[in-house]
Parts: sequence; C-alpha cells; structure tokens
Amino acid sequence: LPESLSVSGGHLFCGGADCVSLAEKFGTPLYVTNENHVTGNFRRYEAALKKYTNNVQLLYAAKANENPVIIQSLAREGAGADIFSLGEMRAALEAGIPAGILLFNGSSKTEADLRAAIEKDIMISVDSVDELRQIDAITKELKKTAKIGFRVNPAIEVPTHPKIATGIKNSKFGIPAEMILEAYREALSMEYVVPVGMHCHIGSQILEVEPFAIACGVIMKVAGEVTKIGVKLEFIDFGGGLGIPYHREGTVDKAPTPEEYAAAVMPVFLEGCKKAGISPAFWVEPGRWMVGESTILLTRVNSVKKVHKTFVNVDAGFNLLIRPAMYDSWHEVVVANKADQPADGTYTITGPICETGDIFGSDRALPSVVAGDLIAVLDAGAYGYSMSSQYNSRPRCPEVLVNGDKAELMRRAETYEEMTGCVVTPSWHRK
Ligand code: LLP
Repeated sequence: LPESLSVSGGHLFCGGADCVSLAEKFGTPLYVTNENHVTGNFRRYEAALKKYTNNVQLLYAAKANENPVIIQSLAREGAGADIFSLGEMRAALEAGIPAGILLFNGSSKTEADLRAAIEKDIMISVDSVDELRQIDAITKELKKTAKIGFRVNPAIEVPTHPKIATGIKNSKFGIPAEMILEAYREALSMEYVVPVGMHCHIGSQILEVEPFAIACGVIMKVAGEVTKIGVKLEFIDFGGGLGIPYHREGTVDKAPTPEEYAAAVMPVFLEGCKKAGISPAFWVEPGRWMVGESTILLTRVNSVKKVHKTFVNVDAGFNLLIRPAMYDSWHEVVVANKADQPADGTYTITGPICETGDIFGSDRALPSVVAGDLIAVLDAGAYGYSMSSQYNSRPRCPEVLVNGDKAELMRRAETYEEMTGCVVTPSWHRK
C-alpha cells in the first residue's frame, strides 16, 4: 500500500479515517485524499533538490488535481504552479500563489490567454515564434513588459506511454534546439518582451531518471548558447514527469524517488551553470508525484456476475477515472471492507458505463467479493477527478479530504440540475 493508506480491523484506512465509514457517511462513488501525504510529498521533493542548491522552486502542475483546496494546501507549502489555461491561472491566483512563481504553459494559447498573463505579470512559456510575435503585439499595445521563456523540445527518447511523451521529436510541444537561438534573438530585439527563462517537459509517468538527466544536458547546452547572445536566464524549468509505482508488487514499476531524480539531474544542472557562467533558479513542475498516491476512488459493488469469468459491477465508471480506459493504466484494487482477507479468486472490476472498456482492473486476485462490498481503486489522485466527465449523464461524485482523523468534503456531488444547467433550448424546440 502507499503511505497514505493502512489496514486496521480488516478495513482500509486513509490517514486516520476508516474508508468503510467514509463511504457510509458520504456515499459512493467517492474520492478520498490524504492531505498530509500531499504536503509531505512536497516537502520531500523540495528537500531532495535543495540538497544541491537553495535556488530551487517547485511549481505544482495544477492539472494533476485541480481541486482548489489541494492547490491551496500546496501554495501554503510555498509551491508555485504550472498553469495551462485561464481556469488554472485563476485557481492558482485564488489559492494565493504569487504571479512570479506561475508559469503559463501550453502550445495553443489564445489572444485572451496571452493578454491575461501579461496583464497579471505571469511569465509565459512560449511554444512558437508565431506566439512570440503575438505577445510582442500585445505588449506594444499595453506598453507593458512580458517576461518569457521558450519551451525547448530536447528531441530525446522518452520511455512512457506515447500519448504522454512530450519531449520526443515529433511531439507538438516546444521548439527544436536548432531553432531556439533564432527565437531568443528575435525576443531580445523586442521592445517589451524580456526573455528570462527556458522550459522543457519531456513527458509523464517516467520511471527512469536517465531521460531527465539527458534532457537536462541538452537544455544546459542550449542555455549556454543563449547566454552568449545576451539572454540573462533567471530560471530554467525542467518540467514534471517523475512517475509513481502504480504496480507495487513485483518489479513492474520500480519508481525512482525524488532523491534519485535529484542525484541524476542536479549535478548536470550545476555543471552546465558553471560552464555557462550563469546561476538561474532550478524550477521543476511535478504533478503526479505530488498527488497521485494520496487518493483513492471508493466504489460500491452493485452486483457480481459469474460467467466465463467473474465481473464485479461497481458504481464508479470511467467517467470518474479514465486512466485505465485511456492509457491502459494499471491501478491497484483493494476490497476496502475485507482488506485483511486473502484472495480467493480473480475478479474483473467493471463500471456502469455503456462501453466494454469501462474496466478498472482485469482478472485481479481478490478476497471473495459480493454485492455491497466496497472497492478502493488506488493511486487515483493524479489525473483522476481532473479528467472526469459526465458521460452517460452521470453527475460527478464528491471528494473528501482527510487530515489525521478529520475527514470533510472538499467538493460535494454534482446535482442533475448543475449537470444540465448549461443546456439552452433553440427557439424551434420551444412550444
Ligand atoms: N509540466 C507540463 C508542461 C506538463 O505538460 C505536465 C503534464 C506536467 C508538468 C506534470 O507532469 P507530471 O509530473 O504529472 O508527470 N493524463 C495523463 C498525464 C498527462 C500529463 C500532461 N502533462 C495521465 O493520466 O497519465
């Protein structure tokens, strides 16, 4: 089990809260997050990096879990944020994160996105020269400075699911290293645009540290080159991507630790800084590692169907956790009210959505499961609720935050009225 969970009296506990009682009190499906696990992760990641230099800033990748309470929890620890939309910008600012430690990322920003960032003094990670020129035009109109960095595509091999490998040559993200000097030169020539940073993000759920070190080497080389043409780098942001051990048993996912990450990357960074004669801050944007293991999705068994195999039909579907359906991701499954019982067979956990792919786990060894049992889908804290939908007209479920033995809602269930509240009737449909 991840550190956020334990077993006592046959029940699964999240922090000091009995998951069986939580499900009775708040209903199912239910997301349950251990707050101390999240803040503990932040402190550990930061300490691992600060062993090498104090000039470090962690930016939480808000997309992983966008609940404002979680963002605020991390903001209080000193986190900045990687933001990808006006919504994430708003959440980060409302959580009290200073504009100076926000980085507005993304490969396809609107004029309104760019304008808002410039007006609020939020730095922009620029993804193309076209975008740079649009920023130039807005700054001239506003007569206002915009601090920017370019996202560099290091074009390296990234060992992860192809849908989330971003630093590969053919990804839509970033500018190739061989075109980057031209981009910085053009930025330097602009009246109100000040290039102060550099950004890269090679992908997500990466279970080796070498690719991060290789990318860091590529970036530091580019950093040295742009320094020579007059760019004063205040920060270099190495993105997120450190994976977590979804598969805890066996050796399938031997996830690296932040200490291992730091040991692989920081020497390359510091060496590159020395060579280039620069001292930018080291920025990093972890999302999954901060929140992934902190959270479970609790779901009640509606029925058990024994045919050629045994299907466990639960009340949560892929509308609440799409990772298994979308990336064939593995999430460990535990029977929360029989957490100390041995396996007696294999079960396939399926949701209520009208698609065959609505499966949380296939042929899992579990204790005897019957209707009414409570299933916990583990490691659902990153890209779980944040990627949820209302598919099949299913309102989203509530989220509970646990802190020690306290457990309270941090988001209530959506109502049917809220779900359909944006619907408008065209005139010819009105009586
Ligand atoms: N920075 C940038 C620019 C990113 O695009 C991302 C994630 C992160 C940081 C955070 O990466 P992390 O530390 O969480 O790996 N929905 C997928 C993952 C998508 C990741 C998108 N970008 C999944 O469920 O596996």
